[in-house]
Amino acid sequence: MANSNRIVITGANGQLGSDLNARYKGGSDVIGLTRHTMDITNRQRVREQILRLEPRIVLHAAAFTDVDACQGDESTAMRVNAEGTDNVASACSDAGARMVFYSTDYVFDGTKTSAYIETDAPNPQTVYGRSKLAGEQAVTAALSNHLIMRVAWVYGEHGKNFVKTIIQRAMTNVGGTSAGIILPPLQIVDDQIGNPTWTVDIVRQTETAAESDLTGVVHCTSEGEVSWYRFACEIFSMLELNVEAIPCRTEDYPRPAPRPRRSALENARLKEAGLNVMRPYRVALAEFIKQNGGVLRQFTVQ
Ligand SMILES: NC(=O)c1ccc[n+]([C@@H]2O[C@H](COP(=O)([O-])OP(=O)(O)OC[C@H]3O[C@@H](n4cnc5c(N)ncnc54)[C@H](OP(=O)(O)O)[C@@H]3O)[C@@H](O)[C@H]2O)c1
Repeated sequence: MANSNRIVITGANGQLGSDLNARYKGGSDVIGLTRHTMDITNRQRVREQILRLEPRIVLHAAAFTDVDACQGDESTAMRVNAEGTDNVASACSDAGARMVFYSTDYVFDGTKTSAYIETDAPNPQTVYGRSKLAGEQAVTAALSNHLIMRVAWVYGEHGKNFVKTIIQRAMTNVGGTSAGIILPPLQIVDDQIGNPTWTVDIVRQTETAAESDLTGVVHCTSEGEVSWYRFACEIFSMLELNVEAIPCRTEDYPRPAPRPRRSALENARLKEAGLNVMRPYRVALAEFIKQNGGVLRQFTVQ
């Protein structure tokens, strides 16, 4: 029988898992599990751990998230994102726990001309997207008391993400650190559109949605959509970095896994249920930079 207060988090070392572990307030008793303490591909271990811990809710944030690495290693992608998620879902079912699974905008092909809603048909174009969709299907099949939260373009204090990478890339090209230096042009993709979303906002939305009786798929991204190029310009502007950025096309920046052109999501179900707490992405970015500006500016010091 599920413990009345316990929350278990998988992937607690990841960028979302770290913030869930540090900030989730839904239970007085929050336990973060890492790959070391519970490898989700070990079905027996997952079952033992979850039955022993008796959580009320499992927040499943562990995943193989390197989209290009997944493209070259389908068996690992499926083992972690599909079978690993099935292991967690089956254990949650046996333990009577509610399960929250974090999925992705990459389950869509990116050809829709408006933002995707939850009833739109997935059509993943990458190994990562297919493996996450298989994870969604495993959760749906294993237990009814679940929430699949599709997030996108995630950034936060921990781990690797676009916000940190673009600042580092900008500054690597510099050769100097003083304000006012004119930096070499940086090419940034301008024809991929999405919703940059701060981990801290996902934690807040998780608290609201996980504690409700909502089930099924919900989209959970910041309000407003933007290209990588425009988003980068906003980051540079908020940090008052003098970076010359040039928009480029996806074709100019080839990657092993194709990226959806327009994978913006609409939080339609959260809004219908009166549960949407996601903020405009610019508001969230400004707060992220205010909280982490000192650390981010360190990237500018050589
Ligand atoms: N990042 C994004 O832009 C994005 C976009 C859409 C959806 N999502 C989804 O959001 C969730 C959180 O993403 P994130 O950005 O926080 O990912 P992340 O930083 O890559 O964290 C994933 C975590 O999962 C752990 N993990 C990997 N394989 C594991 C295994 N076999 N057993 C146990 N743990 C394992 C990793 O551990 P190690 O550190 O040991 O590898 C890592 O701590 C994921 O479900 C992801 O698919 C992310």
